[in-house]
Amino acid sequence: MTRKNLIAGNWKMNNTIPEAVVLAQEISNGIYPDILDEVDVAVCPPFVDLKPVKSVFEFDRVNIALGAQNVYWEPKGAFTGEISIPMIKEIGCTYCIVGHSERRHLFDETNEDVNLKVRALIEAGIAPIICVGESLSVRDEGVYLDFVTAQVRAAYAGVEAADAVNTVVAYEPVWAIGTGRTATPEQAEEVCAAIRATLADLFGVDVAEQVRVLYGGSMNEGNAELLLAEPDIDGGLIGGAALKASSFLEIVKAAK
Ligand code: PGA
Repeated sequence: MTRKNLIAGNWKMNNTIPEAVVLAQEISNGIYPDILDEVDVAVCPPFVDLKPVKSVFEFDRVNIALGAQNVYWEPKGAFTGEISIPMIKEIGCTYCIVGHSERRHLFDETNEDVNLKVRALIEAGIAPIICVGESLSVRDEGVYLDFVTAQVRAAYAGVEAADAVNTVVAYEPVWAIGTGRTATPEQAEEVCAAIRATLADLFGVDVAEQVRVLYGGSMNEGNAELLLAEPDIDGGLIGGAALKASSFLEIVKAAK
Protein backbone atom coordinates (compact mmCIF):
# COMPACT_ATOMS: atom_id res chain seq x y z
CA MET A 1 0.00 0.00 0.00
CA THR A 2 1.53 3.31 -0.99
CA ARG A 3 0.14 6.27 0.84
CA LYS A 4 0.63 9.75 -0.56
CA ASN A 5 2.74 11.76 1.85
CA LEU A 6 1.18 14.84 3.43
CA ILE A 7 3.26 17.83 4.47
CA ALA A 8 1.24 20.24 6.59
CA GLY A 9 2.55 23.54 7.92
CA ASN A 10 1.29 24.50 11.36
CA TRP A 11 1.82 28.23 11.52
CA LYS A 12 0.64 28.39 15.14
CA MET A 13 0.01 31.96 16.39
CA ASN A 14 2.28 33.57 13.81
CA ASN A 15 1.72 35.95 10.89
CA THR A 16 -0.58 38.93 10.61
CA ILE A 17 -2.60 39.08 7.40
CA PRO A 18 0.08 40.92 5.36
CA GLU A 19 2.76 38.52 6.65
CA ALA A 20 0.58 35.50 5.91
CA VAL A 21 -0.06 36.70 2.35
CA VAL A 22 3.68 37.12 1.75
CA LEU A 23 4.45 33.62 3.06
CA ALA A 24 1.60 32.03 1.08
CA GLN A 25 2.80 33.83 -2.04
CA GLU A 26 6.39 32.65 -1.52
CA ILE A 27 5.21 29.06 -1.07
CA SER A 28 2.99 29.29 -4.13
CA ASN A 29 5.77 30.82 -6.24
CA GLY A 30 8.32 28.25 -5.11
CA ILE A 31 6.35 25.06 -5.52
CA TYR A 32 6.64 22.94 -8.64
CA PRO A 33 3.04 22.15 -9.57
CA ASP A 34 4.05 18.60 -10.59
CA ILE A 35 5.20 17.83 -7.07
CA LEU A 36 1.60 18.15 -5.91
CA ASP A 37 0.79 14.97 -7.88
CA GLU A 38 3.18 13.15 -5.58
CA VAL A 39 2.82 14.97 -2.26
CA ASP A 40 -0.22 16.53 -0.60
CA VAL A 41 0.64 19.94 0.83
CA ALA A 42 -1.42 21.92 3.34
CA VAL A 43 -0.94 25.02 5.44
CA CYS A 44 -2.75 25.72 8.69
CA PRO A 45 -2.63 29.48 9.38
CA PRO A 46 -4.41 31.31 12.20
CA PHE A 47 -8.16 31.74 11.60
CA VAL A 48 -7.93 35.38 10.48
CA ASP A 49 -5.36 34.46 7.82
CA LEU A 50 -7.37 31.63 6.27
CA LYS A 51 -9.29 33.69 3.75
CA PRO A 52 -6.34 35.82 2.53
CA VAL A 53 -4.14 32.72 2.20
CA LYS A 54 -6.91 30.92 0.33
CA SER A 55 -7.19 33.88 -2.05
CA VAL A 56 -3.47 33.65 -2.89
CA PHE A 57 -3.69 29.93 -3.69
CA GLU A 58 -6.91 30.37 -5.66
CA PHE A 59 -5.51 33.23 -7.71
CA ASP A 60 -2.42 31.15 -8.49
CA ARG A 61 -4.52 28.02 -9.08
CA VAL A 62 -2.14 26.05 -6.92
CA ASN A 63 -3.52 22.98 -5.24
CA ILE A 64 -2.29 23.63 -1.70
CA ALA A 65 -4.88 22.68 0.89
CA LEU A 66 -6.00 24.75 3.83
CA GLY A 67 -6.38 23.61 7.39
CA ALA A 68 -7.50 25.22 10.64
CA GLN A 69 -5.52 24.75 13.85
CA ASN A 70 -8.53 24.15 16.09
CA VAL A 71 -12.31 24.24 16.04
CA TYR A 72 -15.30 23.89 18.33
CA TRP A 73 -17.64 20.94 17.94
CA GLU A 74 -21.03 22.71 18.25
CA PRO A 75 -22.35 24.08 14.93
CA LYS A 76 -23.32 27.50 16.31
CA GLY A 77 -24.56 29.34 19.35
CA ALA A 78 -23.46 31.11 22.50
CA PHE A 79 -19.81 30.02 22.63
CA THR A 80 -17.97 33.33 22.82
CA GLY A 81 -14.57 33.22 21.21
CA GLU A 82 -15.02 29.89 19.45
CA ILE A 83 -15.03 29.09 15.72
CA SER A 84 -17.40 26.50 14.24
CA ILE A 85 -16.89 23.75 11.71
CA PRO A 86 -19.34 25.30 9.20
CA MET A 87 -17.24 28.49 9.39
CA ILE A 88 -13.96 26.79 8.53
CA LYS A 89 -15.63 24.63 5.92
CA GLU A 90 -17.15 27.60 4.14
CA ILE A 91 -13.76 29.29 4.01
CA GLY A 92 -12.30 26.23 2.30
CA CYS A 93 -10.57 24.19 4.97
CA THR A 94 -10.24 20.51 4.14
CA TYR A 95 -8.12 19.71 7.20
CA CYS A 96 -8.23 20.72 10.85
CA ILE A 97 -5.58 20.04 13.48
CA VAL A 98 -7.11 18.59 16.63
CA GLY A 99 -5.58 18.05 20.04
CA HIS A 100 -2.23 19.68 19.42
CA SER A 101 -0.13 19.30 22.56
CA GLU A 102 -0.10 23.07 23.02
CA ARG A 103 -3.90 22.98 23.21
CA ARG A 104 -3.84 20.00 25.52
CA HIS A 105 -1.27 21.54 27.86
CA LEU A 106 -1.93 25.28 27.69
CA PHE A 107 -5.70 25.19 27.19
CA ASP A 108 -6.56 21.99 29.05
CA GLU A 109 -8.02 20.13 26.12
CA THR A 110 -8.93 16.61 27.14
CA ASN A 111 -9.13 13.35 25.21
CA GLU A 112 -12.94 13.74 25.39
CA ASP A 113 -12.78 17.19 23.78
CA VAL A 114 -10.54 15.78 21.07
CA ASN A 115 -13.00 12.96 20.40
CA LEU A 116 -15.95 15.39 20.11
CA LYS A 117 -14.00 17.50 17.64
CA VAL A 118 -12.86 14.48 15.61
CA ARG A 119 -16.42 13.16 15.29
CA ALA A 120 -17.89 16.54 14.37
CA LEU A 121 -15.19 17.14 11.74
CA ILE A 122 -15.72 13.71 10.19
CA GLU A 123 -19.45 14.40 10.05
CA ALA A 124 -18.71 17.62 8.14
CA GLY A 125 -16.28 15.97 5.72
CA ILE A 126 -13.17 17.72 7.03
CA ALA A 127 -10.14 15.53 7.71
CA PRO A 128 -8.96 15.86 11.31
CA ILE A 129 -5.20 15.81 11.87
CA ILE A 130 -5.25 14.20 15.29
CA CYS A 131 -2.18 15.06 17.35
CA VAL A 132 -0.86 12.62 19.92
CA GLY A 133 2.44 12.42 21.75
CA GLU A 134 4.10 11.91 25.10
CA SER A 135 5.91 14.32 27.39
CA LEU A 136 9.52 13.74 28.36
CA SER A 137 8.53 12.34 31.76
CA VAL A 138 6.24 9.76 30.14
CA ARG A 139 9.03 8.78 27.76
CA ASP A 140 11.52 8.50 30.59
CA GLU A 141 9.12 6.25 32.50
CA GLY A 142 9.13 3.96 29.46
CA VAL A 143 5.35 3.89 29.07
CA TYR A 144 5.13 6.09 25.98
CA LEU A 145 3.66 3.46 23.66
CA ASP A 146 0.79 2.78 26.07
CA PHE A 147 0.28 6.52 26.55
CA VAL A 148 0.17 7.38 22.86
CA THR A 149 -1.97 4.43 21.81
CA ALA A 150 -4.46 5.29 24.57
CA GLN A 151 -4.68 8.82 23.14
CA VAL A 152 -5.37 7.29 19.71
CA ARG A 153 -8.11 5.00 21.06
CA ALA A 154 -9.75 7.89 22.91
CA ALA A 155 -9.66 10.17 19.86
CA TYR A 156 -11.44 7.57 17.71
CA ALA A 157 -14.08 6.44 20.22
CA GLY A 158 -17.38 5.96 18.40
CA VAL A 159 -15.83 6.45 14.92
CA GLU A 160 -16.76 3.92 12.21
CA ALA A 161 -14.07 2.22 10.13
CA ALA A 162 -15.38 3.75 6.88
CA ASP A 163 -15.03 7.23 8.39
CA ALA A 164 -11.57 6.61 9.80
CA VAL A 165 -10.06 6.22 6.32
CA ASN A 166 -9.81 9.96 5.69
CA THR A 167 -8.42 10.92 9.07
CA VAL A 168 -4.77 11.72 9.74
CA VAL A 169 -2.77 11.09 12.91
CA ALA A 170 0.27 13.18 13.80
CA TYR A 171 2.75 11.74 16.28
CA GLU A 172 4.35 14.72 17.97
CA PRO A 173 6.48 13.91 20.99
CA VAL A 174 6.13 16.94 23.25
CA TRP A 175 9.86 16.93 24.00
CA ALA A 176 10.61 17.43 20.31
CA ILE A 177 8.22 20.31 19.60
CA GLY A 178 9.98 23.60 19.05
CA THR A 179 13.02 22.33 20.91
CA GLY A 180 15.26 21.45 17.99
CA ARG A 181 15.51 17.99 19.53
CA THR A 182 13.98 15.77 16.84
CA ALA A 183 13.07 12.17 17.50
CA THR A 184 15.43 9.85 15.66
CA PRO A 185 13.87 8.08 12.67
CA GLU A 186 13.89 4.86 14.73
CA GLN A 187 12.15 6.50 17.71
CA ALA A 188 9.52 8.09 15.46
CA GLU A 189 8.97 4.91 13.47
CA GLU A 190 8.51 2.82 16.60
CA VAL A 191 5.60 4.99 17.77
CA CYS A 192 4.09 5.56 14.30
CA ALA A 193 4.06 1.76 13.75
CA ALA A 194 2.35 1.31 17.13
CA ILE A 195 -0.24 3.91 16.10
CA ARG A 196 -0.91 2.00 12.89
CA ALA A 197 -1.20 -1.27 14.80
CA THR A 198 -3.76 0.39 17.08
CA LEU A 199 -5.71 1.61 14.04
CA ALA A 200 -5.61 -1.94 12.66
CA ASP A 201 -6.97 -3.22 15.94
CA LEU A 202 -9.77 -0.64 15.90
CA PHE A 203 -10.70 -0.63 12.22
CA GLY A 204 -8.95 -3.54 10.47
CA VAL A 205 -5.72 -3.70 8.53
CA ASP A 206 -7.18 -2.31 5.29
CA VAL A 207 -8.23 0.93 6.94
CA ALA A 208 -5.03 1.20 8.99
CA GLU A 209 -3.01 0.90 5.79
CA GLN A 210 -4.83 3.90 4.32
CA VAL A 211 -4.65 6.29 7.26
CA ARG A 212 -1.70 8.66 7.07
CA VAL A 213 0.47 8.89 10.14
CA LEU A 214 2.65 12.00 10.25
CA TYR A 215 5.62 12.86 12.42
CA GLY A 216 5.95 16.31 13.95
CA GLY A 217 8.52 17.87 16.25
CA SER A 218 11.45 19.90 14.95
CA MET A 219 11.19 18.38 11.49
CA ASN A 220 13.24 20.48 9.09
CA GLU A 221 14.96 20.37 5.73
CA GLY A 222 17.96 18.63 7.27
CA ASN A 223 16.20 15.70 8.92
CA ALA A 224 13.00 15.27 6.87
CA GLU A 225 14.35 12.83 4.33
CA LEU A 226 15.45 10.22 6.86
CA LEU A 227 12.27 10.52 8.91
CA LEU A 228 10.10 10.24 5.79
CA ALA A 229 12.00 7.16 4.64
CA GLU A 230 10.49 5.18 7.51
CA PRO A 231 7.68 2.86 6.39
CA ASP A 232 5.04 4.12 8.82
CA ILE A 233 5.78 7.85 8.51
CA ASP A 234 3.59 9.35 5.81
CA GLY A 235 4.48 13.00 6.08
CA GLY A 236 5.07 15.74 8.57
CA LEU A 237 3.35 18.36 10.65
CA ILE A 238 5.83 21.21 10.53
CA GLY A 239 5.93 24.13 12.95
CA GLY A 240 8.99 26.39 12.96
CA ALA A 241 10.30 25.27 9.57
CA ALA A 242 6.92 26.00 7.97
CA LEU A 243 7.35 29.72 8.66
CA LYS A 244 10.11 30.03 6.06
CA ALA A 245 9.01 29.20 2.53
CA SER A 246 12.41 27.84 1.47
CA SER A 247 12.59 25.40 4.41
CA PHE A 248 8.99 24.30 3.97
CA LEU A 249 9.49 23.71 0.25
CA GLU A 250 12.64 21.66 0.88
CA ILE A 251 10.63 19.42 3.21
CA VAL A 252 7.93 19.07 0.54
CA LYS A 253 10.66 17.99 -1.91
CA ALA A 254 11.98 15.44 0.56
CA ALA A 255 8.49 13.93 0.78
CA LYS A 256 8.38 13.02 -2.94
P1 PGA B 1 7.95 22.34 15.45
O1 PGA B 1 6.37 22.21 15.73
O2 PGA B 1 8.16 21.81 14.05
O3 PGA B 1 8.25 23.79 15.59
O4 PGA B 1 8.63 21.49 16.47
C1 PGA B 1 5.61 21.13 15.25
C2 PGA B 1 4.20 21.24 15.77
O5 PGA B 1 4.03 21.66 16.92
O6 PGA B 1 3.23 20.94 15.05
